[in-house]
Amino acid sequence: MKILVTGGAGFIGSHTCVELLGKGHDLVVMDNFCNSKPEVLDSIKSIAGRDFAFYKTDLRDFRGLSAIFREQKIDAVIHFAGLKAVGESVQKPLAYYDNNIGGTLMLCQVMEEFGCRRMVFSSSATVYGMDNPVPFREEYPTSATNPYGYSKVAIERILSDLSVSDPRWSVSLLRYFNPIGAHPSGLIGEDPSGIPNNLLPYVAQVAAGRLKELSVYGDDYDTPDGTGVRDYIHVVDLALGHLAALDYIMDHNGVQAVNLGTGKGTSVLDIVHAFERACGRPIPCRTAPRRPGDIAVCYADTQKARELFGWEAARDIDQMCADGWNFARRHYGA
Ligand code: NAD
Ligand code: WQD
Repeated sequence: MKILVTGGAGFIGSHTCVELLGKGHDLVVMDNFCNSKPEVLDSIKSIAGRDFAFYKTDLRDFRGLSAIFREQKIDAVIHFAGLKAVGESVQKPLAYYDNNIGGTLMLCQVMEEFGCRRMVFSSSATVYGMDNPVPFREEYPTSATNPYGYSKVAIERILSDLSVSDPRWSVSLLRYFNPIGAHPSGLIGEDPSGIPNNLLPYVAQVAAGRLKELSVYGDDYDTPDGTGVRDYIHVVDLALGHLAALDYIMDHNGVQAVNLGTGKGTSVLDIVHAFERACGRPIPCRTAPRRPGDIAVCYADTQKARELFGWEAARDIDQMCADGWNFARRHYGA
């Protein structure tokens, strides 16, 4: 099958490209590198030992997107491209709505024009909002607290409406929990520009000596050690979830939202200790006030992914931290 991967140079996209190539799929990758680097494409090729087509274009560029579909016979699209920083989305809501919603609308229009109606979309556990009980189940109502989250809620709605309007569409809305870790080769991983917003890249940069200490946002939550609990998932497991979703949409029309998580909750301090085991160094921490918009506990109900896709995550927190450190160590020369 020939798969178009939008945002394929990014963190999750690059790992998914490696797995797709390994499974024998033909790949067409597109990215505008607004949050990634061209060198990642060489790393994907060197891990997979195979080449693929690449287009540097923006999702919102109608001509650029049309050229891809005209030149390549695309069977399905895995759509990662989007902006993802929650705090930045509050500062720049129009940029987020334009890029994420506007880009997806353009993609759907071009897909429709070329008769390609199969899509796996990167949604997020953020669509469960602040008020649902854990574990989060796919049938829960969706909501958001920031423009990034609203863009995911809106895109889920757009793709669902599209699928209802034309039953030839086949769409998988994958709600990722907290992807971390890196490819075991250490050649690709998460490399945010500037000061990281997310826990794992921050911890990795403290371990590598690039940042002084971790601020633990809140130690008075109603959780076993008082710190926030999340469902961390190894990015390679997440990538494999996309292959399972792809298999599913080839045989099933309609739209399905599916959680990709481990179903297990891990606290901030559990992560710090696991990372210390992985890197053999202490991670200096200080307690800081709660971060606005954070919930205490977030983890997935994983039944639907098992039943529909026959997929479940296999890698544990120690593996996630070991692979994350292996990448950070090589990348930052620590
Ligand atoms: P990332 O920023 O590493 O990758 C996104 C890629 O898309 C980047 O390479 C970027 O350059 C590209 N891109 C962005 N806008 C584009 C545009 N208009 N045209 C072309 N390319 C564009 O992010 P990621 O962590 O790999 O996330 C991938 C997807 O998964 C995103 O949609 C994100 O919202 C979603 N997601 C991520 C997480 C997470 O914690 N990483 C969690 C849930 C959902
Ligand atoms: C995890 C835990 C923090 C940084 C975000 C998005 C979500 C999804 C995944 C895209 C929390 C604590 C963090 C730090 C800390 N992305 N923390 N010190 O907030 O669960 O989810 O990324 O869809 O939409 O909101 O992930 O890694 O930022 O935080 O104590 O410096 O670590 O309070 O408990 P989060 P995170």
